[in-house]
Amino acid sequence: MKIDKNIQRFESELKIIDRPGMDKLIAYIRKSDFYSAPASTRYHLSCEGGLLQHSLNVLDALRGILAPGEGRVWEYHTAGRVVCTIPDDSVTIMALLHDLCKTHYYKISTRNVKNEQTGKWEKAPFYTVEDKMPLGHGAKSAMLAMQFIKLTNTEMYAIWHHMGFTEQGADFGTVGKAMEMHPVVLAVHTADMMASRFMESESGNKEIFADMPAGQEAAGSAAAPASDAPQFEKAPPLVPGV
Ligand SMILES: [Fe+2]
Ligand SMILES: [Fe+2]
Repeated sequence: MKIDKNIQRFESELKIIDRPGMDKLIAYIRKSDFYSAPASTRYHLSCEGGLLQHSLNVLDALRGILAPGEGRVWEYHTAGRVVCTIPDDSVTIMALLHDLCKTHYYKISTRNVKNEQTGKWEKAPFYTVEDKMPLGHGAKSAMLAMQFIKLTNTEMYAIWHHMGFTEQGADFGTVGKAMEMHPVVLAVHTADMMASRFMESESGNKEIFADMPAGQEAAGSAAAPASDAPQFEKAPPLVPGV
């Protein structure tokens, strides 16, 4: 994982968005621990720069889910019909800012781990949660962003509900209604899942996602895996022998 390269890409994706306050938002992010924080305490990208990598992964996954429309918009298709069109700026904002809530959220702690070779106990660092702004998750991301820039309604809904039905204590009616009103809520949630479940391992992106091209060419169709890259295993049949 190349953190410097990721910072460069993250900032250049945001800087091309013409929205008052964006410079202040970027300055806030720079001063925070966003570029060094992990994406989680374990499982996916629980490493330095993990949150930054995860945010870019969600952008790549989201562009892969959507289809380019006329001009600088993306279309979200269902059964061959367009259920919504989303401006390119919104796609970037929804993806890159969805986990802004994870700034000032983690800390490094230590625990004793036995060195199997020497038999001695040693202190080993690990990430733990120390939420310095306990304001929730998606809602907190939206509110933090709105301290600096205006969000469109769709951006606010998508960031707010990016956990979908997996949000702790989620109200099914509320989340479902948000998805019906702003279908891209489901696309952002799906992209978030794709990033954490398909693209990321504990210490970096999985091999086939290790070198994502910077920019919009990262969208689905352009990113066919090399033939020698490891593939996901074929699912076993539901009925043995079929
Ligand atoms: Fe999240
Ligand atoms: Fe996320």
